[in-house]
Amino acid sequence: MSSYSQKVIEHFQNPHNYGHMDNPDGTGQVGNVVCGDVMKLYIKIKDNIINDVKFETFGCAAAIATSSVVTDLVIGKKINEALKITNSKVLKELGGLPPIKVHCSLLAVDALNEAIYDYYKSIKKTIPKSLEAKHKLIQKKH
Ligand code: FES
Repeated sequence: MSSYSQKVIEHFQNPHNYGHMDNPDGTGQVGNVVCGDVMKLYIKIKDNIINDVKFETFGCAAAIATSSVVTDLVIGKKINEALKITNSKVLKELGGLPPIKVHCSLLAVDALNEAIYDYYKSIKKTIPKSLEAKHKLIQKKH
């Protein structure tokens, strides 16, 4: 545990927006091929803005901490801004992760992209090419 930054430890011990969401507008679920852990992320959208987000995971401390940070970063953001959140931004926000745990951090951003993809599909909106490409990549990866 000592190789985790203080911020990772704080988010792990007190994760933000952890839990189930009833009737979400979009849900993203991804699995980690390295360890088999699973991440589920739910979003609520109003006027093109993510106004609520929750996550559930069978993941490790790093997965929980990165998800907690991702939820903080996306709440109140427009969908197109949320789509710009990258894994490296999340890692920076957390003060980094031990190299062996970097694969854990990918779950949260991938689940976020999948939740937005799911939302677009449910409202039959044309899916931007970049999101379609990310979705294909995520499907292949997980
Ligand atoms: Fe599975 Fe970290 S070890 S998500």
